[in-house]
Amino acid sequence: MTQPGFSGTFTKEFETLLRWRRDVRHFRRDPVPAPVLDGLLATACLAPSVGLSEPWRFVRVDDPARRHAVREDFARCNAEALAARDGSDAGDYARLKLAGLDDAPHHVAVFSDNDPAQGRGLGRGTMPQTTTWSTVMAIHTFWLAATAAGVGVGWVSIIDPAHVAGMLDVDPEWELVAYLCVGYPQDPSDTPELQRRGWERRDPARQQWIAR
Ligand SMILES: Cc1cc2nc3c(=O)[nH]c(=O)nc-3n(C[C@H](O)[C@H](O)[C@H](O)COP(=O)(O)O)c2cc1C
Repeated sequence: MTQPGFSGTFTKEFETLLRWRRDVRHFRRDPVPAPVLDGLLATACLAPSVGLSEPWRFVRVDDPARRHAVREDFARCNAEALAARDGSDAGDYARLKLAGLDDAPHHVAVFSDNDPAQGRGLGRGTMPQTTTWSTVMAIHTFWLAATAAGVGVGWVSIIDPAHVAGMLDVDPEWELVAYLCVGYPQDPSDTPELQRRGWERRDPARQQWIAR
């Protein structure tokens, strides 16, 4: 099959998509229709993976008791993170909203099977972390596809991964890579929330090559 061409219009729209992909922490409560969520998962699985191993394992967390337990874990870890900051920016940290776990209609935990039979070990000998990286590629693909569908995604990493994995009763060998809040965003923006709140900003130096 011939590769389709991508028009200039598409290229511009793709850049717009990248600019408007946001980490979302403020969600509307209405659910995303199941066929839309299923479609996003299918698109995520188009991501590249080491040895074609497809090590990602997407788990929808629907059970209210489990979701509550994850929220509690976040609250504990976030309180610890706040306590560990020095006084100079603890106030700034405390004012940030670092998860949309209360409002988001969907929670998705993403695990990596770091010793999958699929892919027959190809490419992992010297860089075993490549399975985790492949899972991150799928998460990013999910994030972009969601943005294109008007759906917001927020990545929560202020949780104890082993603790949350235990709550979800999955294969003990799987590594928790991300806990995602998913739903329609309250206030889409082209600027990261951390920048809007004065915590951090993009650094133009990161857009420059280092030559060797
Ligand atoms: C690996 C990873 C972990 C993250 N963990 C959190 C988190 O725990 N809480 C949070 O509010 N944002 C989290 N974020 C979102 C970042 O803060 C966000 O991507 C960054 O500020 C840039 O904003 P943008 O994604 O809207 O462009 C995480 C992002 C990544 C890639």
